[in-house]
Amino acid sequence: LGRLVPLAKVEILTTHGLDLDFLPLKARTSPEWAAVVLADFDAFLLDHAGCERKAAASALSLLSRFSDRPALVEVMTTVAREELEHFAQVYKLIQRRGLRLGPDAKDVYVNHLLKGIRNGAEDHLLDRLIASAFIEARSCERFQVVAESTTEPDIRDFYQTLARSEAGHYLVFVRLAARLFPQTEVDKALARLSEIEALAIQMTPIRAAVH
Ligand SMILES: [Fe+2]
Ligand SMILES: [Fe+2]
Repeated sequence: LGRLVPLAKVEILTTHGLDLDFLPLKARTSPEWAAVVLADFDAFLLDHAGCERKAAASALSLLSRFSDRPALVEVMTTVAREELEHFAQVYKLIQRRGLRLGPDAKDVYVNHLLKGIRNGAEDHLLDRLIASAFIEARSCERFQVVAESTTEPDIRDFYQTLARSEAGHYLVFVRLAARLFPQTEVDKALARLSEIEALAIQMTPIRAAVH
C-alpha cells in the first residue's frame, strides 16, 4: 500500500478493463449497494451530479488556497475542468429523464473522511490531497460496480468511462502529493487515511447515492 503505481499499470487502466486491485481501498462495496442504486437510478443520478459538482468545487478550493504552488495550480485546473465536464455529462442524462436537481444531501462518508485531515498547513495539504485521492478511488470502484450491474448498454459504457477517469484522478492526486512531499510522508498518509476511509464507507447507510 502507498507505493506509487508504475506507469505500466496506468496503460493497463486506459487500454483494457479496470484492474481495481491497484486501488488502495480496504473495504469493498457490498452487492447490496448496487441493488439499492439500480432500484432508484434517478435518485442516484441526482446525487452523482452533485458529487461531480462538489469535486470540481473542491479542486478550485485547493487551487485558491494553495495558489503559490505551480504544480498544484496546474493539476487542479485540469481536475476542476474534468469534473465539471463529468457534471455536464450527468446533467445531460438528468435532463433527458425529465429530472431536476435538488439541494445537496449531506455526505456522511465525505464528512467522516474529512475528519481524518490533520491541522497545520503542510499536514493539512498532504491529507487533503490523499483524502481526495481516496474519494476518487471510491468513485472509481463504485462506478465500476454500476457498469457491471446495469442492463442498459449506454449506462454501462458511460460508467465504465467515468470509472477510468476517476482512477486517473486517484493517480493524479497521489502523484501530486509525491511531488510536494517526501514519499515516506505520502505513504504514511495513505496508510492512515485508508483505515479512516474504510470505516467511513462502512458506517455510511446504504442509499441510492454515490456514497
Ligand atoms: Fe468525476
Ligand atoms: Fe474525479
